[in-house]
Amino acid sequence: MTATRPLRLGVNIDHVATIRNARGGGHPDPVRAAKLAAAAGADGITAHLREDRRHISDGDIDRLMAAIELPLNLEMAATAEMLAIALRHKPHAACIVPERREERTTEGGLDAAGQQSHLQPIVRALSAAGIRVSLFIEPSIRQLDAARALGAPVVELHTGRYCETEGAERVVELERIRTAAAHAETIGLECHAGHGLTYDSVGPVAAIPTIVELNIGHFLIGEAIFGGLDGTIRRMRALMDEARGLRARSA
Ligand code: PXP
Repeated sequence: MTATRPLRLGVNIDHVATIRNARGGGHPDPVRAAKLAAAAGADGITAHLREDRRHISDGDIDRLMAAIELPLNLEMAATAEMLAIALRHKPHAACIVPERREERTTEGGLDAAGQQSHLQPIVRALSAAGIRVSLFIEPSIRQLDAARALGAPVVELHTGRYCETEGAERVVELERIRTAAAHAETIGLECHAGHGLTYDSVGPVAAIPTIVELNIGHFLIGEAIFGGLDGTIRRMRALMDEARGLRARSA
């Protein structure tokens, strides 16, 4: 197979809200960031409405649904509250993530294999509402097979460990991602990836031909302090396209 399939970029805007919430006002506005991301070449907007509302708020989801044309990927914990919110808004996609109050970010993937009975009704309800369900899992064959058994059409592979490691360890982690992405295709799952990706780490993941979407947030928002959001997203896009063997878009 040749590495010519397009690779979508989902821009996660959570941390625009983190900065806004540090002062409690309305600035900077994540909806404004979403519009800018669209203009800079993003293919989708991702937002995680956490149980503790530490960054994105319910009002942000209302406004994103009303104001943006790009597909919204709502990251959510597998709870009754989040299911009701997703069913009310019907975003393009919902990515089910593990969530613990005390964690700083989403640490590790969802245990799709160990939580089949809890996840099954949630995946079913979201799918029945026409929402494309994705499960955020570790790059493991067992978790992929569990996602398939649950009927989720999409998986997002957690790239955190790959991003955190160096040298030989990173090579091993990249190989896990590559093997998992190939298995996803074999069992008929669309494969996304994300978490912790930066200019330095994105290339090898973007080059994996069976991965069709990357979701990137913290680095883009942080780097935008220095390079502006538009330029930062364009550069990330160009690095993804280059690694993929695609000509950089002119967007
Ligand atoms: N994908 C998922 C499922 C996530 O939970 C996150 C973090 O919210 C990301 C991608 C983006 O990770 P980062 O902000 O580290 O780029």
